[in-house]
Amino acid sequence: MFHGIVLAGTLLLVPVVARAEAPKDADERLAILSKLVADPHPRVRLEALRALARIPAARSAELALGVLEQPMDPTLDYALWLTINELSEPWIAALESGAWKSDGRERQLAFALKAIRPEQASRVLGRVIRERRLPRDGSGPWIELVGQAGGPKELGALMQQTVGGDFDDGATARALGALGEAARTRKVRPEGDARGILGLLQSSNESVRAATLRLSGDWKTPPPADTLARLAADPSEAMRSTVFEVLRLQGTASLPLIRRLAEDQDPATRRRAALTWASLDLAGAGPVLLGAVTALDQEGTAQDFWRALLPIKGSGKHLAPLLPAAGIPQVAARTGMRVAREGGRNDMDLVLALAKGSGLSADTQAFTGQLIREMAAKAAASGDPHRGELVYRRSDLACTTCHAIGGAGGRVGPDMTSIGASAQPDYLVESLLMPNAKIKEGYHGVVVETKDGQSVSGTVVRESGNELVLRGTANQEIAIAKSNIESRNQATASLMPAGLLDPLDETEQLDLVAFLSRLGKPGDFDASKGGVARRWRLSNVVHTDQQNGQADWMWKKPLDDKRWTEVLSRVNGDLTRTLMETATKANMWSSKIAVLAVTEVQLSQPAGVRFQLTATKGTELWVDGSKVDGPVSLAAGTHRVLVRIDPNHIPDKIRLETRDAAFVLN
Ligand code: HEC
Repeated sequence: MFHGIVLAGTLLLVPVVARAEAPKDADERLAILSKLVADPHPRVRLEALRALARIPAARSAELALGVLEQPMDPTLDYALWLTINELSEPWIAALESGAWKSDGRERQLAFALKAIRPEQASRVLGRVIRERRLPRDGSGPWIELVGQAGGPKELGALMQQTVGGDFDDGATARALGALGEAARTRKVRPEGDARGILGLLQSSNESVRAATLRLSGDWKTPPPADTLARLAADPSEAMRSTVFEVLRLQGTASLPLIRRLAEDQDPATRRRAALTWASLDLAGAGPVLLGAVTALDQEGTAQDFWRALLPIKGSGKHLAPLLPAAGIPQVAARTGMRVAREGGRNDMDLVLALAKGSGLSADTQAFTGQLIREMAAKAAASGDPHRGELVYRRSDLACTTCHAIGGAGGRVGPDMTSIGASAQPDYLVESLLMPNAKIKEGYHGVVVETKDGQSVSGTVVRESGNELVLRGTANQEIAIAKSNIESRNQATASLMPAGLLDPLDETEQLDLVAFLSRLGKPGDFDASKGGVARRWRLSNVVHTDQQNGQADWMWKKPLDDKRWTEVLSRVNGDLTRTLMETATKANMWSSKIAVLAVTEVQLSQPAGVRFQLTATKGTELWVDGSKVDGPVSLAAGTHRVLVRIDPNHIPDKIRLETRDAAFVLN
């Protein structure tokens, strides 16, 4: 029925866009398209974009880029990319004449630079950058843009500014990353003397050190083996994982060191060594891989391991016959079975081998229409949507990694906010049991095989002359250099794994269906209104923070730092006590001073913002480093909002609302 609506939209639209295309002068057509390209319906915007591509004028490019001010999806993204690619010359002319200005439109500029040909981009960028000096904190999109589109000259200037200490640590790490990206995806290096860069390996900042190491790998000038061996035991996690990236980039020459590290006492190092070994020499890595697999005893670690292993071409087939008849730990087997079937991958050899040894069922039967209708009816009669919500949130099912509710969650699959109101229960059951039966429009995956032996699947996020960016099944963006692509095909299976419900008993399955079928209906499962914080990061303040004089890390640590644990609110917007306790229990034994819950809001222009916090007394609200009691005036941009909770009085729930700013979701 979902499709019905879209179809009706398209049918209505065809005559409208056709009217805009009928022979008229360009101004008249542009006037019509300027309305259509801002239409609330994404389908209309899509068609309008493609029509704009056929009118080679600066105004067409301007209107097309304006689409970025509204919500985007992968199809729109791709259509815009094509359109700007075709309109590149008129757009550049407008930019050079000053008719199109980038101030306040940095996002549009960034998009356009990636869509046009590299030599055009470098020309434009050189001009835009020359007009401004990159700020010390690296604010704005400029550093990344130089990485994505800059020529040797722009990269050289960036390198000088980096080595010269003109950037703070955050901007330095980003600049190093940008230099690496240019080398990796476009094989462009900065002009000038690059030796000074390696000095940054001595930096006191771990992100800077890791980025420097990574760059040395991209430039194929890594430090000597002994240094790498020492860095593999570095206290910083970022450093340790970068060592293995560098080893992989070096190719088989690094096998002697990898063999040494595969016998390390630290299991994480052994796992990484096994994975790197497998990516360089799958046949030789067999025994070490098996050792790593049998040692997997935790959900998270096991999932990361399989997700790193299975994209290596042929790895599932290679490992299957090696698995011991006595089986491997249940967690390892269960997670392996799921990952082996996700992302349109259907590694049945491995699934069967894992199931056999571990007493799990590899249910691959076809579900009949009868069975599906029965299950839908049972779910309606006896499923409990409240319990179902907890099933939906279970990390081993990974629903939230791929799907969002109220905008919070992954974007690999469709948003679930109103699925219960728009889809029939049979359809929901079928989607869960047989994801491959009907693949939703716009969510077909692609499978890309690379020249260096990876097989990557996901949906297309964007694409430029040098680079294809996919969204992988862990909701992460994966950039693949075009020059590294061997083949690219539409995935035949859904990106959603088959067999997801296998680990659930019948009650849990029915509860899950009941939950999904309530989504979007009025009441506890309506997330459509917005205005409430849904994406939180939790952490604890402990005594040692104070002793180390690190009282302000919560304003500085990036939100993806491992010190924060991401937690999504319940569908009704509440962050419940159970959710908070689960997320912060890791540090239970050390004396907690406070529990922190952080979220972000965004404003497109300065405004007075009134927050409404539901919590117990003693819970404090802070914004950008200061405690607030009433309305606060905030500048345009992103702001960190923090709720400080007394660990001895954790409220039953916290709920933060505002109508004056938008909560950042992704
Ligand atoms: C690895 C990513 C991934 C995971 C994990 C995942 N899904 Fe999906 N899901 C998708 C994709 C992609 C689609 C769209 C393609 C299709 O229809 O098969 C989809 C489609 C669906 C649909 C149909 C939606 C529609 O509008 O047609 C439902 C319902 C659904 N998923 C529910 C779930 C639930 C519940 C879970 C957890 C038990 C889950 N999914 C786990 C990726 C995923």
